[in-house]
Amino acid sequence: MSFAITITHSGQHFECADGENVLEGMLCRGREGISVGCRGGGCGVCKVRVLEGEYRTKTMSAACVNAEERAAGYALACKLFPESNLLLEVVGRIGRSLARKTPSSSFHFYTSVEMSNGVNNLED
Ligand code: FES
Repeated sequence: MSFAITITHSGQHFECADGENVLEGMLCRGREGISVGCRGGGCGVCKVRVLEGEYRTKTMSAACVNAEERAAGYALACKLFPESNLLLEVVGRIGRSLARKTPSSSFHFYTSVEMSNGVNNLED
């Protein structure tokens, strides 16, 4: 069984197998859109908000996603396991970058390679 994962900003979608976390599903299918960091629930760069769908999470850093945010659907994609098709909003580093860029023609998705090579000047 697999589930369809759709990212709102880009409309990108990919399949995620049952038991596979969303970040792993994205990477295994050669897709991008969610920043990749520690892959262990500790850095927060893969933060998303689930807008639609059922899911479960594993242990996430409370510094990255507090209890109030969890209740509102925020999660770390590396610890997010779909139990149905999901509609996600990226709110990690890429999501913040997208929110600041207007008009939308200046849009750029950072690749996982760029992110892992230290694209750390997104606040400018
Ligand atoms: S990649 Fe670091 S918390 Fe998900």
